[in-house]
Amino acid sequence: MITHRSYAVEPWTVRETELSLDVLAQSESVFALSNGHVGWRGNLDEGEPHGLPGSYLNGVYEVHPLPYAEAGYGYPESGQTIINITNGKVLRLLVDDEPFDLRYGRLISHERVLDLRRGVMERTCEWCSPAGTRIRVRATRMVSLTQRSIAAVAYEVEPVDCRARVVVQSELVANEQLPESDGDPRTASALRSPLEPEQDFASGHRLRLVHRTRHSGLRVAVAADHVVTGPEHTTTDSESHPDLARLTIASVLEPGRKLRVEKLVAHGWSGARSLPAMSDQVDAALAAAAHSGWTGLADEQRAYLDDFWARSDVEVDGEEEIQQAVRFGLFHVLQAGARAEERAIPAKGLTGSGYDGHAFWDTEMFVLPVLTYTSPDAVAEALRWRQNTLPAARERAAQLGLRGAAFPWRTIEGQEGSGYWPAGTAAFHVNAAIARAVVRHVAATGDEDFEVDTGLELLVETARLWRSLGHHDHRGTFHIDGVTGPDEYSALADDNTYTNLMARGNLLAAADLVERHPKEAERLGADDEESASWRDAAEAMNIPYNGELRVHEQSAGFTRYQRWDFAGTRADQYPLMLHFPYFDLYRKQVIKQADLVLAMYTCGAEFDEEHTARNFAYYEPLTVRDSSLSACVQAVIAAQTSHLRLAYAYTVEAALMDLEDLEHNTRDGLHIASLAGTWMALVAGFGGTRRAGETLRFSPRLPEKFSRLAFILQFRGRRLRVEITQRSATYSLVDGEPLTIRHHGAPVTLRPDAPEVRPVPPPVHRPAPEQPPHRKPHVH
Ligand code: BGC
Repeated sequence: MITHRSYAVEPWTVRETELSLDVLAQSESVFALSNGHVGWRGNLDEGEPHGLPGSYLNGVYEVHPLPYAEAGYGYPESGQTIINITNGKVLRLLVDDEPFDLRYGRLISHERVLDLRRGVMERTCEWCSPAGTRIRVRATRMVSLTQRSIAAVAYEVEPVDCRARVVVQSELVANEQLPESDGDPRTASALRSPLEPEQDFASGHRLRLVHRTRHSGLRVAVAADHVVTGPEHTTTDSESHPDLARLTIASVLEPGRKLRVEKLVAHGWSGARSLPAMSDQVDAALAAAAHSGWTGLADEQRAYLDDFWARSDVEVDGEEEIQQAVRFGLFHVLQAGARAEERAIPAKGLTGSGYDGHAFWDTEMFVLPVLTYTSPDAVAEALRWRQNTLPAARERAAQLGLRGAAFPWRTIEGQEGSGYWPAGTAAFHVNAAIARAVVRHVAATGDEDFEVDTGLELLVETARLWRSLGHHDHRGTFHIDGVTGPDEYSALADDNTYTNLMARGNLLAAADLVERHPKEAERLGADDEESASWRDAAEAMNIPYNGELRVHEQSAGFTRYQRWDFAGTRADQYPLMLHFPYFDLYRKQVIKQADLVLAMYTCGAEFDEEHTARNFAYYEPLTVRDSSLSACVQAVIAAQTSHLRLAYAYTVEAALMDLEDLEHNTRDGLHIASLAGTWMALVAGFGGTRRAGETLRFSPRLPEKFSRLAFILQFRGRRLRVEITQRSATYSLVDGEPLTIRHHGAPVTLRPDAPEVRPVPPPVHRPAPEQPPHRKPHVH
């Protein structure tokens, strides 16, 4: 088991009981607050010390050149990087001439709590200044889920045992100095001073700074307002400079008397709106927030989250760590997507600048499944963002000599941002992930308007891509050659099974939609003839299979490759991509992350039980999990094939990825897909939940460690609750029309107020599959 714990294990909170500066950056990611539009890392109020200062606005990025040693046709010429916008979190404190800085004086206590029900981060600490003045600081911070542009801090300081002179400086800081990046190629390249000042303003308790990014030309406005409560003779003074606006509050406090500062911060950005329009926009947002006041905002936040948990909670009895982790994961998934509103959901959400703030297929394959069954509106918004980026995707397809749309492997604004094409451009499967997310969303909500307005166009354009990317051979078989599947240790492979199966689903779903909505399809230039060609391709799709081994090939010829020398690879040589050339990884049987195993989850109907078990046994010893997107998928298939202990171990790994910093890079931001994967492992793994047309199937089975697992799903206007114990499963229709589901294959009709209980059949016994040496799950 995990020996060192950074955080107390509690069901509804993440509590850090002491501050360790060596894990400060990691904790800033864990304590990050966001609503999908504004993101604040959990930096200390006083700004320093910090691991990585981070204030983000979804969609605010800077462009930079992408240099190549040897360039080629179609390589993207510029990249996009999320930037640190004006920081509205800063509240510096001076106590009797000494700056409140935890590196000096004596820290008597320091606690930070992320409250998953209230949606706030609370910090309490007691500190004795070098001169011996003892103070208590209590700061509560939130990024509002109800007022999209607003973040707020309630900051209180009080002397403990003697009178103290205190000064609080509440600031807006632009172009903060960032630490040098540590050279990890996956870490965001920090851009220095990306903001050019346009306006600074300070008057009374109000502050405002407006800046513009140098190259991407985006205008960013941040404004703050304050409510100050303190003893008589508390004075305030405000000033502004191009990169700094400040309200200074001075007071003399008797022991036990408090100075309280409520700071409301409004954010806005635009590529089109004028300077006056942007300053008016943030002022107006501040007025709305001031109208609610701190208490109103806190109440709205609580109500929003009560509603979220009522439709999304997952309960686990038996393993408190998993209980905490799945809620932590759900909370951060919600934070990443809740108010993104036609913007991307990046791989790190808005919790750090890792991966340059780019969105990948992680969104559609890992994050959106969770939101589909818990917060479907956020899914529609995320897919509308993809739709808005269709012009760039069509342009990219044309540049590549293809039809339809080629969505980027990684991006902020829609253009391809990957300079490494074998694991970028060639990873065409991102297109099928988008199509799949559309199909999933429509099936789970029955939202026909979305289907016609957004779904149709996305499906048609991606189907066109597949049709032009693949070809029929002399026998009529359809092949998609030279692509990269999910496993990034195999590149430019022919007929990647995952890709082909997902493309097949994409082609068929597009053909169905064109037939269902002929008039709307006509507007997109799609007709029966075109959709018939998609069906032909889908039906003739090659699915490579090794008849001797009786396993599916990850891609054509994969099982013929030499096996990686696992025995000769040391533990410290993982992740392999940092120690071995891609050239060698590509030509060997070694798998970075679930690929064929993912296909067995997403396209399960294509694999019978026997093949699922045999394929899993074949691919497990080759899969090294050098990506955090792997463990959760392996958990699902391990559970499906009755390897419950292994499924549990993978679930723990996905769940604790960030709380325990298992990959040592949580400092750059959270692994949102892995956090979403915890839900996936529990709901799809142990719950055995699968979509089956317009209903759901369940094949629940719990590992020994769990005595109970319960979860709630939103499905076609209904709310379902599933509760599983070692022996039985109870299905309840909390809300909505009756529905016939399946339990281990047998139909069960659910009606309101009539929970249905069914026995859980015993697992099938199979020999446990092996993992490569040194690559067993962290907990086993
Ligand atoms: C994985 C990709 C993933 C990306 C962002 C990579 O390490 O191999 O599948 O999309 O990380 O999370």
